Amino acid sequence: MVASEATPFIKTGGLADVVGALPAALKARGEDVAVVLPLYRDARVDGARRVAEKLDVWLGLAHYSVNVQMAVERDVPYFFVECPSLYDRKGVYVDAAGDFPDNHIRFAVLAKAALASARHVFRPQILHCHDWQAALAPVYLRTALAGDPTFLGVKTLLTIHNLGYQGIFAPSALPEIGLDPALLTIDRLEFLGDLSVLKGGIVYSDAISTVSKGYAREIQTPEYGFRMDGLLRARSSVLTGILNGVDYSAWNPETDVHLAAHYSLDDLRGKKACKLDLLRQFGLPDEAAGRPLIGIVSRFARQKGFDLIEQAASGLLDEDASLVALGTGEPRYEEMFRNLAAAYPGKVAVRIAYDNPLAHKIEAGADIFVMPSRYEPCGLNQIYSLRYGTVPVVRATGGLDDTIDEDTGFKFSEYSSQALLASLRDALAAWRDRRRWETLMRNGMRKNFSWNASAAEYSALYRRLLA
Ligand code: ADP
Ligand code: GLC
Repeated sequence: MVASEATPFIKTGGLADVVGALPAALKARGEDVAVVLPLYRDARVDGARRVAEKLDVWLGLAHYSVNVQMAVERDVPYFFVECPSLYDRKGVYVDAAGDFPDNHIRFAVLAKAALASARHVFRPQILHCHDWQAALAPVYLRTALAGDPTFLGVKTLLTIHNLGYQGIFAPSALPEIGLDPALLTIDRLEFLGDLSVLKGGIVYSDAISTVSKGYAREIQTPEYGFRMDGLLRARSSVLTGILNGVDYSAWNPETDVHLAAHYSLDDLRGKKACKLDLLRQFGLPDEAAGRPLIGIVSRFARQKGFDLIEQAASGLLDEDASLVALGTGEPRYEEMFRNLAAAYPGKVAVRIAYDNPLAHKIEAGADIFVMPSRYEPCGLNQIYSLRYGTVPVVRATGGLDDTIDEDTGFKFSEYSSQALLASLRDALAAWRDRRRWETLMRNGMRKNFSWNASAAEYSALYRRLLA
């Protein structure tokens, strides 16, 4: 596999959860898996050893010399591409000034280093690439390296975790990443006059998957297709959806190390202590424990639908409920949450941060978890919420629609604050009916989205590719 993030090393979102857990689940099924990642400055890698030195990576006339370090995590080798001029800096994809201007080069080197690793340290039959950051690997394989004996018979799978991030660059980026400018045509890498790295991956991969069946359907429509729906429809015979699993060794209220108390399906008592702990973490009054508490953990991005929260806020907070939110991202949403907290002191609190222990505390301490996403390829937090007996209120899109039903949560379809508010009001009414609520909680806690089932689907797809 080639990817740009994986737990426990480096994480900005759900992709890291997937690349941190799927390989071990595949390994447990007997697959031989290795993962290639960049060695970022912020990556927490213990006990790594160097397995390859001074591998040559050429992007056109530009030369990079990379080392490869290996660390084993849950029995899976993770290979880290060491190239300080590209990865030893503050930030993974962005800094305060925005996207790094050399991201095309950073991830071109990742792709080429992965191919070099395939020659020197791990010989794959399948190259499984995640998102645009890895999508150049199949492009190089089927263009510049076509006919290279090392890769004869090697099949490629591209998993799209989010069609909203495509790796769009000016046409001048093509020669900078060592690709023939002649590839800038509508049937190859050109997208509205620019270079789309993700499009290259979609065009050149043998198979394409995305992270829920619902999203696999949606991206073939103009509404969700980010103007790639036509291409995706053309490739529909090799496009499938495989729902993400959950790493229940990390996300389980019976064992979660970040919680004030533990609880389970048979004994929910500890959840009260978690709620009180959460209120205190956010500086909300203890009395709020008697009111329903709504939680949010998210990247603050347009995708996540927070404009609906903003519009629904006054209606929602007229109700007897509290809201806690944890996230970072676009300044306008950070400001929106800060303003809400200022307008409703004692009722709304926000933490602008990336804080994993606090994310766990919210999953456990909240009563309701809200995700009003504009689109959601899979979404993991709502699935975590189920296991924590925290009832999800979600917009019926992509993986949210596939994972939540009326026995476990509340869904609305139309992208509007009225629809969100109506759904939240239904949830608040249900909360007041203790028996009904506990039934909902328990229904969710019984659900099992284990990685083993998803890994079985990936295995079957790999086999089909090799057949
Ligand atoms: P996405 O990948 O689109 O951000 P997912 O729901 O798939 O959405 O995954 C998000 C992951 O990132 C979850 O594991 C969630 O707990 C975590 N996460 C998001 N924002 C934060 C934050 N501010 N602090 C801690 N964890 C976060
Ligand atoms: C993306 C999507 C999210 C998905 C995650 C892991 O970041 O936004 O819905 O759960 O990838 O596949």
